[in-house]
Amino acid sequence: MRRIGVLTSGGDAPGMNAAIRAVVRKSIYHGVEPMGIRRGFSGLIANEIIPLGLGSVADIIHRGGTILRTARSAEFMTPEGPPIAVENLQTAGIDGVVILGGDGSFRGALKLAELGIKVVGVPASIDNDIPCTDYSIGFDTAVNTVIDAINKIRDTATSHERIFIIEVMGHRSGYIALDAGLAGGAESILIPEVPYDLEEIAAKLRRGQARGKLHSILVVAEGAVNVFELGNQIREMTEMDTRVTILGHIQRGGPPTAMDRLLASRMAAHAVDLLRQGDTRKMVGMKAGQIETWDLDSILHSRKQPNRDIMELASILAI
Ligand code: F6P
Repeated sequence: MRRIGVLTSGGDAPGMNAAIRAVVRKSIYHGVEPMGIRRGFSGLIANEIIPLGLGSVADIIHRGGTILRTARSAEFMTPEGPPIAVENLQTAGIDGVVILGGDGSFRGALKLAELGIKVVGVPASIDNDIPCTDYSIGFDTAVNTVIDAINKIRDTATSHERIFIIEVMGHRSGYIALDAGLAGGAESILIPEVPYDLEEIAAKLRRGQARGKLHSILVVAEGAVNVFELGNQIREMTEMDTRVTILGHIQRGGPPTAMDRLLASRMAAHAVDLLRQGDTRKMVGMKAGQIETWDLDSILHSRKQPNRDIMELASILAI
């Protein structure tokens, strides 16, 4: 392996920079030249390939976003896209690519693999919906951002004795909502994977009010329900002052937590080792604290299931 490329694709995630740094430094340590591909698969088609020296990744371990920029490339998904990308990689002398992103990015990775490029995926998405890994890069930071927001909302919610419905990201999954809901002490957590009973939620809110609770927090995953409609329903059913807050893209930014930096550094360094050994069509994951290697194809054919114990515990602890 003479040259390794690295790209970030899909939604950015805090810790992507720490992963880029690890790819660059680990490659150079082993005498392999690291090359950066800017703007994900779009940049690969546009031939935006740059050499990355040791200094190019200095002072980025603590920064959110991605120095390589990112994109969701519609062009790469056309039949014409991948062959152009492969030609650009071959011209640049790149034999293998580390792809940081989520399932859409990994589908792109497989297209490159089908045309003879060695690929290793590293899960980076705040959604944490990628199978075969306990965590993906950016999730821990996003959950902590949500917790910070919940802490602040609690202050104003208490002052005004209100119900707050807080919508968090997660695309079609509820991992951020689950962890932030439990850690944030939410009364109810709504996620797309588990049906909810509105009567039960309203009854719980009324019980809380009767007991003198000063506020209530509902954490709702974006894919579960329209939060404004939910807000109206809750307002009508409880006759309590209710507000809706959508946290949005704030969850994608900010300095990565120590956990995300560790995860990013360990997984990305392992991806370099896999490419150096000649491995391809793999994804690096972390299970019970151990770095593991999985087949990329199998990842894309399975669906991660949320931990229902967390949901149940959150509900018990918020009686
Ligand atoms: O996949 C990450 C994510 O932040 C999802 O949680 C969210 O649904 C989506 O990306 C938002 O995408 P965009 O950046 O295109 O608004």
